[in-house]
Amino acid sequence: MPTETNPQYFIDLENQYGANTYSPLPVVIERGEGVFLWDVQGKQYIDFLSAYSAVNQGHCHPMIIAAILEQSHRLTLTSRAFYNNVLGPFERYITGLFGFDRVLPMNTGVEGGETAIKLARKWAYTRKGVAENQAKIVFASGNFWGRTIAAISTSQDSANTKDFGPFVPGFTIVPFNDLMALEAVFKDSSVAAFMVEPIQGEAGVVVPSDGYIAGVRRLCTQYNVLFIADEVQTGLGRTGKMLCCEHELVKPDILILGKALGGGMFPVSAVLASNEIMGVLRPGQHGSTFGGNPLACAVATASLKVLVEEKLADNAAFMGEIFRKNLRNIQTEIITDIRGKGLLNAIDIKPFGNGKTAYDVCLALKNNGLLAKQTRTHTIRFAPPLVITAQQLRSATEIISHTIAEISK
Ligand SMILES: Cc1ncc(COP(=O)(O)O)c(C=O)c1O
Repeated sequence: MPTETNPQYFIDLENQYGANTYSPLPVVIERGEGVFLWDVQGKQYIDFLSAYSAVNQGHCHPMIIAAILEQSHRLTLTSRAFYNNVLGPFERYITGLFGFDRVLPMNTGVEGGETAIKLARKWAYTRKGVAENQAKIVFASGNFWGRTIAAISTSQDSANTKDFGPFVPGFTIVPFNDLMALEAVFKDSSVAAFMVEPIQGEAGVVVPSDGYIAGVRRLCTQYNVLFIADEVQTGLGRTGKMLCCEHELVKPDILILGKALGGGMFPVSAVLASNEIMGVLRPGQHGSTFGGNPLACAVATASLKVLVEEKLADNAAFMGEIFRKNLRNIQTEIITDIRGKGLLNAIDIKPFGNGKTAYDVCLALKNNGLLAKQTRTHTIRFAPPLVITAQQLRSATEIISHTIAEISK
């Protein structure tokens, strides 16, 4: 087989020369368009992962490609040592869209989280009156916001933390979806902020009870604690609203966006806040060589416009309802739970056929033309690009139902 169409050739290269930090499904992708991906042998798949929700607009969206091409011919990077003519218009657009005074652009989601924590700590010392070096940031159990030292310092999963200590101090963990526990820790006046995902993505699409996010807002206001919403995965239309917090008509104090802000093409993240909060940072106190670069700003502006103009949040809400209804019609014993909002969904698979797990279901789905990935051992996340049509959703549901019927026979 010629090397360029031989998947094993590319798999071996990654295995031999790359760091062994992922365990991908054995499929080598070569091309993408909309909801579809093609492997090096030309086999077509429906993408039900969307690069962990970074490709909400669909693969290689023509408007985002046009923006990246146009801007890359003109100017790509100046650093923030100079002004450029794309950053300001982008800042005006994104703050207007989400109703915040100011934005701080970064690159990756985890940098967005780090930025939010720095903002909250400085706000606590300079506005709330917390004693020096005593500020606490509260996180929910099961949180995931990346793999830097600060991010893993809030993790309770030993797979993330073992042999990587010592960890960053000043972080407190409370159970997710538990307002009483949250209120108990808020009584400590050195608490600066609570950082939480409105639906926990990597934990397995854990949807809190109705009223939880509104309750978080209420307690944060009552105790003068900043509410940091990590909408890196849930934001930008994924759950059927532009922001997941909108389901409960809630506005956080600090909003973190990432993933689909770069339209699947370029890492762009952003932290949004009020004048009062963002105003605590002075020149030199935070930044990044690439944060706010003209190419990223052009891509992010186009990525947001696609979401708005194509009403992708509405499509996610509509398709998500149909999808969960269709999943509930599958006659099988191995699915033990179906949950989600919009097009952020998951099913739990109980071990079957002599120790088979969600991974084996993902392998079988792949063979039948649908790509999804297990999260944790027993959960499969289903999160297609938000541009999916009713007919594409129907084909996908058929693949899922006959694969599960076949594998659990
Ligand atoms: C909720 C959430 N926050 C932050 C991150 C980190 O984003 P990145 O991988 O771009 O650093 C992730 C990544 O999966 C995430 O799901």
